[in-house]
Amino acid sequence: MANLAIIGGTGLTSLKNLEVSRRETLHTPYGEPSAALTYGALDGTEVVFLARHGDAHTIAPHRVNYRANIWALRETGARRIIAVCAVGGINKDMPPRKLAIPDQIIDYTWSREHTFFDTELTHVTHIDFTRPYCEDLRDVLIATAARAGIEILPHGTYGATQGPRLETAAEIDRMERDGCDMVGMTGMPEAALARELDLCYAHCAVSANWAAGRSEGIIEMREIEVNLEHSMQEVRTLLGHVIANG
Ligand code: HPA
Repeated sequence: MANLAIIGGTGLTSLKNLEVSRRETLHTPYGEPSAALTYGALDGTEVVFLARHGDAHTIAPHRVNYRANIWALRETGARRIIAVCAVGGINKDMPPRKLAIPDQIIDYTWSREHTFFDTELTHVTHIDFTRPYCEDLRDVLIATAARAGIEILPHGTYGATQGPRLETAAEIDRMERDGCDMVGMTGMPEAALARELDLCYAHCAVSANWAAGRSEGIIEMREIEVNLEHSMQEVRTLLGHVIANG
């Protein structure tokens, strides 16, 4: 049984060095996950992988069935989830290609199915979300990156926007005033749903571009793709080390 799950975001639809043992299509009370789950081993350690946007990267951030994805991963027996996500850099320490392990979240998304504690409750439940990420898993990622010589920003506030459009420059200015260091479209409700199921969840954020208004000109999809392709090598190395260390 895999203790660790990895959710791959834009730029990471598979783990290249994974020795795949099987694929499984799970059905959940919340519908279908984004893709079949891929089970395999990296350096002998079991891991389960899920492509958040589907195998062919066709599911937009606001259309991802976050509840089905998190439920399915819990069904596998995984208790820890590393979620890889592309972001735009707001803080000057988040240039394109930089990795970060954020420690806080501000949620700007709307109308997403964002809770398991919705209807047919025996009692109303409010999870604590003071520290939205699993600190133990964040520590593992930060320490592993240091040992592997991978430069990361070991903190930061992730601002989750609705998408799929990118932000206006004024929206990014407001997010910066709010305290956001990076902006992405998939961090929420994923993190909160993991907490609702008591799963240990951390983000590995990858800067794909400067956020709107933080560089000259407009944001090109090609620029995002090239930067992510480059950085995913580092992400794979980081994940490989984390998995190898159990
Ligand atoms: N904004 C929101 N999400 C993103 C961005 C961005 O600039 N880059 C990659 N994901």
